[in-house]
Amino acid sequence: MSASGTPADAGRNAVKRAAAEAAVELVENGMVVGLGTGSTAAFALEALARRHRQGLRFLGIPTSERTAAAARAAGLPLTTFAEHRQIDLTIDGADEVERGTLNLIKGLGGALLREKIVAAASHRLAIVADAGKLADRLGTLAPVPVEVVGFGLEATRASLEALGASTRLRKAPDGEPFATDGGNRILDCSFGPLSDPARLERRIRHVVGVVECGLFISRADPVIVADQAGVHRLDS
Ligand code: 5RP
Repeated sequence: MSASGTPADAGRNAVKRAAAEAAVELVENGMVVGLGTGSTAAFALEALARRHRQGLRFLGIPTSERTAAAARAAGLPLTTFAEHRQIDLTIDGADEVERGTLNLIKGLGGALLREKIVAAASHRLAIVADAGKLADRLGTLAPVPVEVVGFGLEATRASLEALGASTRLRKAPDGEPFATDGGNRILDCSFGPLSDPARLERRIRHVVGVVECGLFISRADPVIVADQAGVHRLDS
C-alpha cells in the first residue's frame, strides 16, 4: 500500500478534491475568506494557494491552528477579526449534511467553536463534502460533538445525558483527553437520528458548561458534494 492509502482512500480524496475545487471557484478578488478545517477543506486550501499564485487577491481567516499553520506554509495572506469583522465567503467541510434542509453536523475534526464563529460572521458558508456525508436525518452518520469546559465536566456530561445522549469523551491519539484550540474538551453525543435538530441545538447550548455544539442549522449555502459521477451543488 502506498503512503497515500488504499485505492478507496484515493477515490474518496479525488471526490473531496473535486468538491473543494468547485467551491474555490466562488472566491473573487478582494474577498475575506474563512478557511475551514479537515481533509476536504485542506484541498480547498491547496486550490486557493494555486489561485493565489495566479494572482487572486484575498485574505484568509483560519478556523483552527492547524489550518492557520497550513495556510502560512502555503504562503496565503491571513487576517484577523480585529481587522475584518465580516467574512465574504467561508469554505469548510462537514461530517454530515441533511438532504433538503442542508443542516449540518460539524466538529469531528475538533474545530467546531472557531468554525461556528467564522460561519456566523460569514456572508456565505460553502460546505464541501463527498456524497457519503449526505443523510436523510442528521445523527444517522455522526454523533453531535459538544465542546465543554474541563471544569465540572462530569456534571455537564450528566446534563447532556439527561437530554437523551449517550456520551463519549473524545481522546487524542496518545490516549489523553483531546484538547481543542480553546483548551476545552469534546463530548461526542449520540442521540440517534434527529427529528428536530434546531430544538436540540437550543437545548444543548442551554446546558451550563457547554461552550458550543456541532449542529449548524440554516447556515450552509451552498453545499457542494461530489461523487464518482461528478460535482453537484445544493442550494438552500
Ligand atoms: C472539523 C470539521 C470538519 O469540517 C469535518 O470534520 C469534516 O472533515 P473531513 O473533510 O476531513 O471529513 O468540522 O471540526
